[in-house]
Amino acid sequence: MRTPFKPSAGRAALLAATGLFAVTIAVATRAQAPAANVWGGVYTADQASRGKAAYMTSCASCHGPALAGGDSAPALIGGTFLNNWNSTTTGDLFSRIHDTMPANDPGSLGGKTVSDIEAFIFQANGFPAGTTPLPSEPAMMAGTKILGTKPAG
Ligand code: HEC
Repeated sequence: MRTPFKPSAGRAALLAATGLFAVTIAVATRAQAPAANVWGGVYTADQASRGKAAYMTSCASCHGPALAGGDSAPALIGGTFLNNWNSTTTGDLFSRIHDTMPANDPGSLGGKTVSDIEAFIFQANGFPAGTTPLPSEPAMMAGTKILGTKPAG
């Protein structure tokens, strides 16, 4: 007796369904807009220059005028800093600064000053300026990633 045809037909149908599923996923993934990140221009040049002045007043005494770090405070520029913050969001860094810095007077800076200083830190780390200022509310930056290396494409 011949092997019944049914099982292999079932298998073919399963394979077809799996293939369709994979295609559906591929299309859905492609349709998504690329995630916003710091290489897309997330602050303005004006904001960074205001931030520089505020940084010199509130941060430079510990983190150094060139953001290179001091006796006890870490650098806010370069590899180690960017590794620490890689794949977090601009809102995460905002909250870290807003809630814990300056270390000798945490919570003393308003949201606008914090976002200005964050813009200056981004500029110092080589992320490009854009036309939209960094918001002063962490909730508005939840989807914007800090990426130490510019993504391909
Ligand atoms: C009195 C010294 C002092 C001042 C002023 C100060 N910091 Fe700090 N900061 C530190 C120290 C010490 C640490 C590391 C220990 C810690 O996390 O609290 C730190 C850590 C940080 C970190 C985390 C770095 C990392 O790699 O994760 C950030 C970001 C930061 N500071 C930003 C700022 C900014 C922005 C200002 C100005 C608004 C500021 N700090 C002012 C002492 C200071």
